[in-house]
Amino acid sequence: MTDRKARLSVDGLDASIDLPIYPCSAGPDVIDVTSLTKKGFFTYDPGFMSTAACESKITYIDGAKGVLLHRGYPIEQLAEHSDYLETCYLLLNGELPSNEQREEFSQAVKSHSQVDESVAALIKTFKQDAHPMAIMCSAVGALAAVYHETLDITKEEDRLTTAYRLIGQMPTLAAMVHKHRQGEEFVASDSSLGYAENYLHMTFGKAGEAAKVSPVLAKAMERIFLLHADHEQNASTSTVRLSGSSGTNPFAAIAAGIATLWGPAHGGANEAVLTMLQEIGSVDNIDTYVAKAKDKSDPFRLMGFGHRVYKNFDPRAKVMKQTCDEVLSELGLADDPLLAIATRLEKIALEDEYFIQKKLYPNVDFYSGIIMKAIGIPPEAFTVIFATGRAAGWYAHWNEMVSAPYKIGRPRQRYTGYTTREYPSK
Ligand code: SDX
Repeated sequence: MTDRKARLSVDGLDASIDLPIYPCSAGPDVIDVTSLTKKGFFTYDPGFMSTAACESKITYIDGAKGVLLHRGYPIEQLAEHSDYLETCYLLLNGELPSNEQREEFSQAVKSHSQVDESVAALIKTFKQDAHPMAIMCSAVGALAAVYHETLDITKEEDRLTTAYRLIGQMPTLAAMVHKHRQGEEFVASDSSLGYAENYLHMTFGKAGEAAKVSPVLAKAMERIFLLHADHEQNASTSTVRLSGSSGTNPFAAIAAGIATLWGPAHGGANEAVLTMLQEIGSVDNIDTYVAKAKDKSDPFRLMGFGHRVYKNFDPRAKVMKQTCDEVLSELGLADDPLLAIATRLEKIALEDEYFIQKKLYPNVDFYSGIIMKAIGIPPEAFTVIFATGRAAGWYAHWNEMVSAPYKIGRPRQRYTGYTTREYPSK
């Protein structure tokens, strides 16, 4: 195990407390504080700024260097050479698939991409102007009702089938939510199409008509799904792990992850970036908004900027920017005013002392919204795309946890409320 120790000396305690230090293959080593409760202490770390909540082999981030690895492979190389389903296989299994394994995985996902009628009916019960993330939370949670008989999380076979169903049905659900909100008929999944190509067909195609999807947009969509596939122990993935630690089924745990991702500080930022760019409206207004972002008395923040871990460029943002340029020039939108504002805003912010000092760089959400808007996805559905891509990562982390011994997550607190007091006599 380990012979390195952290020696904690505490005022008022005669003896110091020895805490084991465990090595990592990359990143900071960890100090095991589990013995502190017996010594009468809790650690205190609001926001988990310095807390490793689990051991994992799936994704590694070096925030100082702007490095993101999935099972050791740099995100830039996966974005260049891989595709979303191959990356899903890698996240789930730890190794890249052989050609045979890849074909088998792809066919298994495609064969589970149809959504049950009961969930289709549930989607139709929502008002057409319902926020798509509200519908997605419900629809994914409802999958637990559809597959209740094959959700024994102790059975590897059930866990594998559930992975196929989740990865297969997320794009179908995303497309159905879009069609419902547009007041249009659902378009059936077409297993002859690629993963992202099929999503675009189900979203923008017409029922009964053959697919007519631009290869450039299909490639961009693949890359958007891939770039969102996983990101270590972020808020929504930690939610999936914590809810999954009670032994609940993976669809319920992932519905909780979707709810967490919705927030503007997390996956909801892509929608907020577009709203912000539209509010800025012109490059002439950028300085005013940068000043607002720096003003402590103003709650305005530059959406799509900053990150809890990256104190350097988010490597995904660089790839997303390159994809943005490709898509907009393909669509003849290279002079898109929102892109002009975003590009200028990025330049100004990166040269501004406030952003440099606080190490605030564009994150994955800064450019993704511009691409998705150009593809025709409504801003309020951007986070649905994020959730669709992230489903693989959520599942991989849930599966990693339940495939080994685990305990229910149960944080404690720093209590500063009343101590015992008597109920007043009448
Ligand atoms: C995602 O965790 C993940 O991996 C998430 C994610 C994933 O793939 O799962 O990468 C996806 O969620 C990306 C982040 C998307 N969110 C946004 O773009 C929203 C805007 N950014 C922020 O609100 C903020 O940067 C966070 C939430 C992303 C990170 O916040 P932290 O780590 O809690 O940092 P903080 O809020 O304490 O900010 C540190 C300082 C503060 O100033 P001081 O109090 O030190 O003076 O930086 C300032 C903040 O005011 N600051 C910003 C800012 N972000 C931080 N100032 C202006 N604009 C911003 N965007």
